[in-house]
This record gives sequence, C-alpha cells and structure tokens, in this order.
Amino acid sequence: MNKKTACRTIRKHSLLFIMKTLTNLHPPFWAGIAGLAVALLGGMPALAQDLDRQTQVWAASCAACHGTGGHAQTGIPPLAGQPREVLLQKLLAYKAGSLPATVMHQHAKGYTDAELARLADFFSKQTR
Ligand code: HEC
Repeated sequence: MNKKTACRTIRKHSLLFIMKTLTNLHPPFWAGIAGLAVALLGGMPALAQDLDRQTQVWAASCAACHGTGGHAQTGIPPLAGQPREVLLQKLLAYKAGSLPATVMHQHAKGYTDAELARLADFFSKQTR
C-alpha cells in the first residue's frame, strides 16, 4: 500500500468511526435533552413546593418558642403577621450580633441570609 492509499484508508475509517459514534450517541443524547426539558418544565412547581416545605421544616424549629405558625405563648414575641422587612431586619441583626438577644443570635447564625429571608417571608404570611 502506498502512502496515498494509506491516508485515504485512514481517513475513510476515521470518518466511519465518527459517524458510528454519533449514531450510537444520538438516541440517548436526545432522550437526555428531552428528559431535561421535561424535568425543567414540569419540575418548576415541584421545586417551589420543595422550597416551601423546607421553610416549613425550619419554621417548625422556631415553633418550640414562637408557637405553631408564629403564634407565641406569653413572654415570647409572636412572629405571625409581622411585616416581612421587620422580621428580616431583626433576624439579620441577631445574626450580626447588633441586636441584643438571649437566644436568637444563636438561632439566626444557623441560617444564610437568603434562608432568613424565606423564614421572614413565611412568618409574615401567617395570620395573626
Ligand atoms: C429557644 C427559644 C427560641 C427559638 C427556638 C426561636 N426563637 Fe426567636 N426569639 C426567642 C426570644 C426569647 C426572642 C426575644 C429576643 C431574645 O431574647 O433572644 C426571640 C425573638 C425573635 C424575633 C424578633 C421578634 C420581635 O418581634 O422582636 C424574631 C424575628 C425571631 N425570634 C425569629 C425566630 C425564628 C425565625 C426562629 C427559628 C429559626 C426562632 N426565632 C427560634 C426565642 C426563640
């Protein structure tokens, strides 16, 4: 086999190889894309629901003192229905240590600012 034929043969084989690989890849690849689209479209409400469920789980840990849904017993400030911004500012201040507290600075430090915002949002939406 001379050099030219050898080159042609190699080129033919590599082309065949690429084509074979692509056809082999295609069905799972497109199924993956379709699956991703379905997951994105259908998963959005589910994701929002999960986020909300997560906030409820966090809020349950506040219930020990602030009561279910932020309806506190005597001695503990009720959270239900307070303006979101007021709750958030206090939570951030507890976290930063700029608002004196007996226990709240400990609790606030366990959450990111975004998570505190979700908690503030949750309690502001509870009826008084
Ligand atoms: C161990 C009891 C306890 C737990 C649990 C607790 N808190 Fe508190 N919270 C308090 C007390 C007591 C205060 C008053 C400030 C202080 O002394 O720390 C307070 C104050 C607050 C305030 C300010 C309310 C106001 O009107 O001034 C907010 C907001 C708050 N807590 C949110 C939360 C959130 C959100 C959680 C759950 C992540 C939580 N707390 C968990 C006891 C608790």
